[in-house]
Amino acid sequence: MKVLVTGGAGFIGSNFVLRAREVRRDWQLTVLDALTYAANRASLDPVAEQVEFVEGSIADADLVYSLVAEHDVVVHFAAESHNDNSLDNPWPFMESNIIGTYRLLEAVRRHGKRLHHISTDEVYGDLELDDPQRFTESTPVNPSSPYSASKASADLLVRAWIRSFGISATISNCSNNYGPRQHVEKFIPRQITGIIQGVKPKLYGTGANVRDWIHVDDHNDAVIAIIERGRLGETYLIGADGELNNREIIALILELTGKPADWFEHVNDRPGHDLRYAIDSSKLRAETGWAPRYQDIRAGLRQTIDWYAANEAWWQPAKAATEQVYARLGR
Ligand code: NAD
Ligand code: DAU
Repeated sequence: MKVLVTGGAGFIGSNFVLRAREVRRDWQLTVLDALTYAANRASLDPVAEQVEFVEGSIADADLVYSLVAEHDVVVHFAAESHNDNSLDNPWPFMESNIIGTYRLLEAVRRHGKRLHHISTDEVYGDLELDDPQRFTESTPVNPSSPYSASKASADLLVRAWIRSFGISATISNCSNNYGPRQHVEKFIPRQITGIIQGVKPKLYGTGANVRDWIHVDDHNDAVIAIIERGRLGETYLIGADGELNNREIIALILELTGKPADWFEHVNDRPGHDLRYAIDSSKLRAETGWAPRYQDIRAGLRQTIDWYAANEAWWQPAKAATEQVYARLGR
């Protein structure tokens, strides 16, 4: 099977490529990535000889049409992915997340190919801390930020192309990923790499906000399960029952790095900051048999901390510029 992976030089996409090389050795993989600030070519170094790499944008119709024509399946990770950036400058989110997805949809329609679209639980908005409900596939979309609105827009385009044009597609909406090769702008790597440099973790607002954490390998195993066993036209929520608030995550990171429990600082909150995400993944589990392998967040964080400690050359070049952006935003 020839698989085109968009955004394969980013966090989840590169881990997908590495994982697929391990568990699906008969897949022929091509990565299409625009190499934005969020990409890191070094993530693909271990498979450089076995994976074709094309630098380019999913918004480039000619490039997308010709690449899709040569592949059987498109796994679509490429996106602008950071909420804080979308609040600062929304345009790249519109171009990559909405127009880029539109280009891919037209290409899979024209060439009759299979698409799996990667999305986020943020399209459903947020929950109260004490709400017994979790997000399901039938929760109405209600996004809060320009990022999540652009992802909800892309999801709606995919649903429309399924219904109106009968394309062969599936969608997955996953919760917050953690693990190796995540950009240092994101919550967990920002704190781990800060601690390595002697800087205190930064907590937005009160830190009561809850995220439903999942290891990136569990997310990618679920994506493989949906490609192979998901029903065409369906949406699947991916989550590993990993709800923790941001204070609890910082406490775990401080404990695992041997720092005092109060060694962190409060910074400005994110405007419109979603309070809580929580995923009910029963449909995915029942239909595909998928279950998360990393159920101990402490062990997953230990592995992640060790990876950043051992791979300073991977993240160091992006760290100073990332912190300059945060300094400008007061976060
Ligand atoms: P990331 O920012 O680490 O990587 C995104 C990759 O896409 C980068 O390599 C970037 O260069 C590439 N890209 C961006 N615009 C492009 C364009 N126009 N053309 C081609 N390539 C382009 O993001 P991530 O965290 O790996 O997220 C991957 C996908 O998973 C996104 O669609 C995101 O919405 C979704 N998602 C992320 C999470 C999470 O916790 N990180 C959770 C659920 C869903
Ligand atoms: O839920 C899935 C989403 O998870 C994905 O769609 C996004 O692409 C991904 O970036 C992530 O979005 P969040 O906004 O939840 O992730 P982020 O890592 O930016 O922040 C996680 C939480 O930590 C959030 O409540 C904000 C908070 N935070 C973040 C940073 C960077 C802090 O308290 N301090 C920080 O320094």
